Amino acid sequence: AKDELILGIETSCDETAVAIIKNGKEIVANIVSSQIESHQRFGGVVPEIASRHHVEQMTVVLEEALEQGGVTMADIDAIAVTEGPGLVGALLIGVNSAKALAFAHQKPLVGVHHIAGHIYANQLVADLDFPLLALVVSGGHTELVYMKEHGSFEVIGETRDDAVGEAYDKVARTLQLPYPGGPHIDRMAAEGNPSIKLPRAWLEEDSYDFSFSGLKSAVINTLHNAKQKGEEIVAEDLAASFQESVIEVLVGKTIRAMKEYGVNQVLLAGGVAANRGLRAALQEAVDKEGKNLVIPPLSLCTDNAAMIATVGSVMYRLGKRSGMDLNANPGLDI
Ligand code: KG4
Ligand code: ZN
Repeated sequence: AKDELILGIETSCDETAVAIIKNGKEIVANIVSSQIESHQRFGGVVPEIASRHHVEQMTVVLEEALEQGGVTMADIDAIAVTEGPGLVGALLIGVNSAKALAFAHQKPLVGVHHIAGHIYANQLVADLDFPLLALVVSGGHTELVYMKEHGSFEVIGETRDDAVGEAYDKVARTLQLPYPGGPHIDRMAAEGNPSIKLPRAWLEEDSYDFSFSGLKSAVINTLHNAKQKGEEIVAEDLAASFQESVIEVLVGKTIRAMKEYGVNQVLLAGGVAANRGLRAALQEAVDKEGKNLVIPPLSLCTDNAAMIATVGSVMYRLGKRSGMDLNANPGLDI
């Protein structure tokens, strides 16, 4: 049979990305244009700036992807695009670009969910083995998702306040580290001792939900109190203590859900999956239970369009088609 080529477009936050995936498994092209530098001096993503960058970058990134893949639009079977969740103005650029391409080249259009994309990044490195459990940790999301088969997503737990990455970024900001702060905290944590007592938000005994705003506040309070008393706090120790609390809860809930749902495989996904401490702790815990853990390489953990084209391939084969009325949906449910 002829190879299937899906073009994916991602613009939900601050990366303008286009990729081409062959047969739902193989990267033919993968271009990501990051705007982090433009947002850094504001300490976070500024929605208006993000939208403007997407407009400027979209055609450049698209051309680059087609060139890298050595293909033309005529070779593409379908166009997948992130329809949500994310920043509405940013999403709209991707959705409208995808619609224009689909209309101009008469190609099927498939709107996909950003988090489903993060999960399916794993399909680029391993065969999915259902039923499975995915821990999705990013700047906007913290979710435990149960999948009994392709295209079926059941959120069994989610954050009630801050996402993990958001908590990392806010703690980093308090420590006067540049945005995004996650990688800096991760590096500092490796050099410190988790000697400062911080809370663990386990919530109700049977809940798979998460909460990180209390922990974030505890870190900020610890710093303020020490400052007032003129005491010295070793930033590395605070980072290590914060990271230990985050990891203990994330890994603890994931392993409990893994057992209760009797899954074959655990997937880690999202930008915080880059965290070295989390990767190591989850690997050890899953190994101990004799299960299989998949973690994508760093470049596929952060926002990219390869993951969007991959989930697009799955949804396309399942028969999903979007019309020309496809719209950006910032609060889209998975
Ligand atoms: O998935 P992603 O690229 O964008 C969203 O969809 O949110 O995730 C970005 C988030 C940021 O909050 C960033 O600080 C965090 O992932 N992050 C990390 C690490 N690398 C990136 N957090 C902790 N440790 C890291 N090594
Ligand atoms: Zn993301």
